[in-house]
Amino acid sequence: MAAQPSPPELIGQSRAFLDALDHASRIAGVERSVLVMGERGSGKELLAARIHFLSGRWGGPLVKVNCAAMNETLLESELFGHEAGAFTGATKRHQGRFERAEGGTLFLDEIASASLRVQEKLLRVIEYGEYERIGGEETRIADVRIIAAANIDLRVKAENGEFRADLLDRLAFDVVAAPPLRKRQDDIMLLAAHFASAAAGELGIPFPGFSPEAAMALKSHSWPGNVRELKNAAERAVFHWAELDGEGPIDNIVLDPFEAAFGPLAENRHEPLTLEQPAPASAPGARYDLRDHLNGIEKMLVSEALAAHGGSQKQAADALSLTYDQMRGLVRKHDLT
Ligand SMILES: Nc1ncnc2c1ncn2[C@@H]1O[C@H](COP(=O)(O)OP(=O)(O)OP(=O)(O)O)[C@@H](O)[C@H]1O
Ligand SMILES: [Mg+2]
Repeated sequence: MAAQPSPPELIGQSRAFLDALDHASRIAGVERSVLVMGERGSGKELLAARIHFLSGRWGGPLVKVNCAAMNETLLESELFGHEAGAFTGATKRHQGRFERAEGGTLFLDEIASASLRVQEKLLRVIEYGEYERIGGEETRIADVRIIAAANIDLRVKAENGEFRADLLDRLAFDVVAAPPLRKRQDDIMLLAAHFASAAAGELGIPFPGFSPEAAMALKSHSWPGNVRELKNAAERAVFHWAELDGEGPIDNIVLDPFEAAFGPLAENRHEPLTLEQPAPASAPGARYDLRDHLNGIEKMLVSEALAAHGGSQKQAADALSLTYDQMRGLVRKHDLT
């Protein structure tokens, strides 16, 4: 994409956040690849931008590619470009993002989604600076620094053979961790006020502040969607308040906008199971396979945990308070690979 003119604003003063900023600043000037890891919405992209703008490449382009947004062929041609006639539909030469990032930084978002073939090519660029356009003969030399981001543990993917260990070694010259918001308690109200003020400004009204109850709701939520989720909640609160011609501070925080229509997620989570599986028979003489029923529940919970953690068996095991070995056993038992 187009070069960004200035570094985006990063709000926060908690220890965990300042440590991450500090780490990003220290690594910025070192001409090596960096991996930024953290949960969704935790600010990985902003940290990557900070690294770029604090590096010697700040005057060059910062180009972003989301590796999860494209299939393998498209991603390859987006990254490395293609020559006219390289494949059906390639009528013109296409400049790749490596070319566009020349002299600057290439931000590879969701790197875990890059196929093994793309990974192999990335490794070659990192190791030798070399690549070819798709369908091209000429070897090109890239002067590009790579910052990659992932929201799942790439070590687990490497262990499972889904991510090249040699590429991981190279990308992870240094790993900057974006801390989850729940570990940044001191930042919650600061960020909420920041986003709410901006939303109020958009509406042309002064920010009315949050009531103690609203502040309590904000501070006690676990924020699985991190800063992005908080931003939405703060903006939503301001818009609702303004819609209802609110007076005094904002006192209503809607954390889950689905809840009013569909009820809380926790209540619904097990619904398909109870619908699909017969309830245990309690009538005299009725037969019911308890083991089967429990197996079904076990399988559902394990697959949900895996899905919630991007397939990471280690994180899913943590979420279910299982050891990694127990998790592997269950994955095998239920054929969930
Ligand atoms: N410290 C911060 N100060 C201000 N805004 C922030 C901060 N951290 C994150 N944000 C905002 O929160 C949203 C999510 O941030 P960002 O896109 O950097 O997260 P991410 O980790 O890359 O998320 P994803 O994993 O979903 O790609 C953005 O709107 C961003 O501007
Ligand atoms: Mg991102």
